[in-house]
Amino acid sequence: MVKKKDLLYEGKAKKVYLTDKEEFLVTEFKNSLTAFNAKKLGSFENKGVINLSITTTIFKYLEKNGIKTHFVENISNNEMVVRRLKMIPLEVVVRNIAAGSFSSRFNIPEGEAFEKPFVEFYYKNDALNDPLLTDEHVLTLKIANQNEINELKLKALKINQALITMFDKADIKLVDFKIEFGKLGSGEIVLGDEISPDSCRLWDKKTDEKLDKDRFRRDLGRVQESYEEVVTRIQKHWGK
Ligand code: TMP
Ligand code: ASP
Repeated sequence: MVKKKDLLYEGKAKKVYLTDKEEFLVTEFKNSLTAFNAKKLGSFENKGVINLSITTTIFKYLEKNGIKTHFVENISNNEMVVRRLKMIPLEVVVRNIAAGSFSSRFNIPEGEAFEKPFVEFYYKNDALNDPLLTDEHVLTLKIANQNEINELKLKALKINQALITMFDKADIKLVDFKIEFGKLGSGEIVLGDEISPDSCRLWDKKTDEKLDKDRFRRDLGRVQESYEEVVTRIQKHWGK
């Protein structure tokens, strides 16, 4: 088993540790919850455990469907061993239904389904407030080359299709989500970070009730209950 060593860095929702093996890291899922570039802070008990559980079920499912992730194994109920990646500083967002920043930027009502899903890139840079990027921006800033941009989009759309199926079985609509990718030593691009109600918009299929971090962002209450609902529904169909 991999042994956890020194803290490498602490993010808003996770801590990352070095291990006794160069090629592996340990990510610890925290109970904290932030929004609007950490201007709004919160937390609830068990949030780290819930998000690790959801991410694990999803990453295992993606691996079964031919999508490589950094997941290796869990060593406690809030700690995951992952392969060490050189992260690409992009927040890759896929949208199926209008919501959030898309709805406010273009004045489109939340809930309108798009004819087909699409991908957006945001620069992962808190100091700049994670600005939206065109492909030309990504190229000019040398964040990724054209082949990598194409690959990121293809991978993101493939992940979207797998996640739609997964959440649909749990009676949940996948509105949109954010993922992050990194490279292995070989240069291969692999899915990293997490997929949880922190990074997705998830609406109940029948009622459109929000079951994700928007409950915290918008002060809708029942934050913990909604995350618990997601983990229960997902694991009922897809296991742990
Ligand atoms: P947005 O509509 O605010 O741009 O968010 C799109 C999706 O990305 C939504 O599912 C929430 C997720 N997201 C993150 O995971 N981290 C972030 O910092 C932001 C802004 C959004
Ligand atoms: N993750 C971002 C933050 O912590 C923003 C968000 O998800 O709303 O500030």
